[in-house]
This record gives sequence, structure tokens and C-alpha cells, in this order.
Amino acid sequence: MAIRVLTTRGELPGSGLCRLAGAADLVPWHGTGRPAPEDLAALAPGSTAVLALGNDPVDAALLDAAGPSLRVVALASMGFDNVDRTAAAERGVVVTHTPGVLAETTADLTFALILAARRRLGAAAASLARGDWDLFRMDDYLGLDVHGATLGLVGYGQIGRTVARRAQGFGMRVLHHDPYAAEADALSTPVDLETLLAEADIVSLHVPLTAETRHLVSHRELAAMKPTATLVSTSRGGVVDEEALLTAIRAGTLHSAGLDVFEREPMGAELSPLAAEPYVVTLPHIGSATERTRAAMVDLAVDNILDVLRDRPARTPLPGTASAYERPVSGSRS
Ligand code: DGY
Repeated sequence: MAIRVLTTRGELPGSGLCRLAGAADLVPWHGTGRPAPEDLAALAPGSTAVLALGNDPVDAALLDAAGPSLRVVALASMGFDNVDRTAAAERGVVVTHTPGVLAETTADLTFALILAARRRLGAAAASLARGDWDLFRMDDYLGLDVHGATLGLVGYGQIGRTVARRAQGFGMRVLHHDPYAAEADALSTPVDLETLLAEADIVSLHVPLTAETRHLVSHRELAAMKPTATLVSTSRGGVVDEEALLTAIRAGTLHSAGLDVFEREPMGAELSPLAAEPYVVTLPHIGSATERTRAAMVDLAVDNILDVLRDRPARTPLPGTASAYERPVSGSRS
């Protein structure tokens, strides 16, 4: 019987989908906007694999709609908060993501946001585009320095460390807070979260969205930051309480923010009020968006699917999940 793979997009960067099409029948979703869970479920029956992006809902209903043929959900993303991992584990479905291929590109964008927010690039570029530049003024678009500042990294995994490397070139002092990386290294000093929030000029978030990190930055944390500080996030929108951030920005108790990720994505025409704030730079989740990196993410997702189809361990399973498909003992699959 032909192998079916549900792909949540009909086209993806690079040649990964073509390789996959050589090994399986692809069943792509072709709608507009964000795919609704029921639309994906309608395409899922009989699928052996699902290839999804980091924003696509992969819930228990989708896994059940695919049925017992389903062996692997391969994400073309590092983030995995869109997947019901418990439901996947209960059904013996391998879940994979894409570490190792996007840290450098995402670290580049983190620095772009740091620079844009502190040097007020968005507001300055918009004013030029409006034709508002009639005189050179010494006090137009005054920002805050990035070089020599203290950078606080919340989360010190692949991306956090890669950002720390870039910070050396800006002569920055780097602190990090990460319960899983409590050691100092040549780039950064571990501190508790309170110290990081109090001392950092720039707080940059590099944690996955989990039950523990949801609204990790809310009123209390924002109040603990310097009024001259900048908050930057390239992780997941849910890590920041956006309403609390808006309050802090409007009250002037926080200098600025640079956000690539939001609690509600995509936003469509109904923009987050943060997008209209002059001291906030907002981007549509483009942290890993270079041609090479997005193609590498798709390639890795496809390799993970092919590994499982060939009864090999997936190369980048999510931590804490099975690396290879093991059929659950009879009756355990509810
Ligand atoms: C990731 O890889 O998690 C990026 O945010 C794209 O989803």
C-alpha cells in the first residue's frame, strides 16, 4: 500500500518535498490563513507521517484522524509547542524538530531586533519613508547604545549561546539564566533570574514555550527590569504576557521591545496593539527566514520522516520522546 504523508503546506523552500515525494504520496493542505485543526484532520486518515510547521496545530484529534498508520510527526521548526506531545507519546508516534540548523540565522535576527529596538530604526525608517526629513536635528531618534551594554539571555541553549558569541563583537557583558545550563563559560556568566532582570540592559528570550515558561515575563518581571532596558523575543509569543508588556511600554517603565513572535499568530489585519507602539519593533516570525536555513529545516524534517519509514531512529527527536517508532503494546493505543 502506498505511504501517505500529510504536509501542511503544498510548497516549502528547498528540495526536501521533492525528495519526500520520491518515497511517498504527499497529501498537502492548500487552504489560506492558518490551517484549522479540522481541515488537517480531514486530510489525515491513513497517513504514515505528518510534516508540519511550528505554528500548525497537531493535536490528539489529528493523531486519531490519521489512525494507527501514523508513525511520525516531523516539525520543520525548532519550537514544538504546537504539538500535543503527551498524545503523541500515548499513541507511540515519534515527534521530531529541527535543532542544529537555525541557531546562527536566528541569532542574526536577534541582533537585528536588539539594534532596531535600541536605535529606533523602525520609527526612523518610517519617518524617512513619509518624507518627514526636512532638517538634520541633533535630537532626532535618539536611542540607546548596544555596544558595551549588558545582555541577559533567558535560556542558554543553542540559540542563546550563538547570540552570546555575537555579543563579544559588541563588547557586551553577557549574563544568562537557564536551569539546564548553570555553568559559566568563556562567553557568559550564569545568574538567577532576578539578578539578570535587574542588571541587563537587554533581556533576550531563548526558551521554548512550555507550561513552565508561559508568561515567564509578566508584570513582576517587567517591573524588575531597568526603565532603560529592551526586551527582545525570538522564541514564542506565549513566553511574554503581551498585555503586561504593552502597559510597561506605554507607562515608559521599559524603554523598548523587539518582537518576532506573538501570542496570536498569524495576526492577519487585526494587529496586536504592540505593533503600533513607536518604541516596539515587530516582525512576522522571521527568525529563521533565510533561503538556506529554511531549506535546511525542511530537509531535516524530511530526513526524520525517511529515517522512521526505513525503521531507523529519527535523527532529531524531541527531547524526552521516542527516537524510533515502537509499536505500543496491544491495547495501549487509545
Ligand atoms: C522555529 O524553528 O521554531 C521557528 O520559530 C519557526 O517556527
